[in-house]
Amino acid sequence: MRHLKIFATDVIKGSLFEDLVKEGHQLTVWDRTQNGEISESDIINNAKECDVIISMLSNKLGARTLAQLPNIKLISQYAVGFNNIDINFCQENGISVTNTPNVLTNATAELAMALMLCSARNIEAARKNVIDKKWQTWEPSGFIGKSLFNLKHGIIGAGRIGTQFAKMCKGAFNQEIIYTGPNKKSEIEETCDAKYVNLQTLLQESDIISIHCPYSEATHQLINQSAFKRMKKDILLINTARGEIIDEEAMYHFFKINNHAMAGLDVVCNEPLDDNSPLRELDNIFILPHIGSANDVARSDMAQLIFDNIQCFANGKDLKTSV
Ligand code: DGY
Repeated sequence: MRHLKIFATDVIKGSLFEDLVKEGHQLTVWDRTQNGEISESDIINNAKECDVIISMLSNKLGARTLAQLPNIKLISQYAVGFNNIDINFCQENGISVTNTPNVLTNATAELAMALMLCSARNIEAARKNVIDKKWQTWEPSGFIGKSLFNLKHGIIGAGRIGTQFAKMCKGAFNQEIIYTGPNKKSEIEETCDAKYVNLQTLLQESDIISIHCPYSEATHQLINQSAFKRMKKDILLINTARGEIIDEEAMYHFFKINNHAMAGLDVVCNEPLDDNSPLRELDNIFILPHIGSANDVARSDMAQLIFDNIQCFANGKDLKTSV
């Protein structure tokens, strides 16, 4: 077994780092609480001599950065999405990349459910009412939300997370599921009686739209001004995938005018959300700080997968979750 030099761009809870050191690997960890946010030059300086980077989805590992890290042979990403990494560069330069699929499917579907419930039932405004000591009486007309039962739900991207969320919505709320994506998918059709439709139909017919596709050139601003024009004026829009799939300017204008529409977002184009982002102004847009995979089970299984992939690499075996 090879002993590797590893750089982790952030602290990961649990025993991952201890376990790697026990295996004889040499580890350097960027401690964000002490050193602040990691920059491109911090990554280059710390990873220069390393064989492996344990990366977060917030680290931009583009060609410019990677070209300065000639020793790196493996990037082990602590996330399922890997659009922050230049995969073409990695392929051309013999760098293997792994991610953490499957183990965070339930957690992310769970968060999509939380966003859907919070948005539909005005949970943020209602809670604020209690915290701000504005709760005077039982209000017959206050905080009236949208019932989630029997609605038509359009899933964009019926991969693992989209399919799991569809199953939960079908089971909990008897929602009618339609879906779109490059290909028909048997699991969502068999388990949810879902119908495959094109994007235009999904936009026009859905009461709820949830986005679960990966971010790529093909999905860049897939939900743009003309997509918003087709949506129902009281749409409930959920995004736990990537912010860049939505044109944020078009979204802002749509939700500003249509105050019965609601959005629940776990992701935005620029994370963290800019202090001056106009999205902060709107009460009908509910934003969380990208916490889709943040539950105890998912984060611990993700760490285990990182460990397993690094051990496979060190032992010259096939990687478990190569991208
Ligand atoms: C990921 O891991 O890519 C997701 O964004 C989970 O929220």
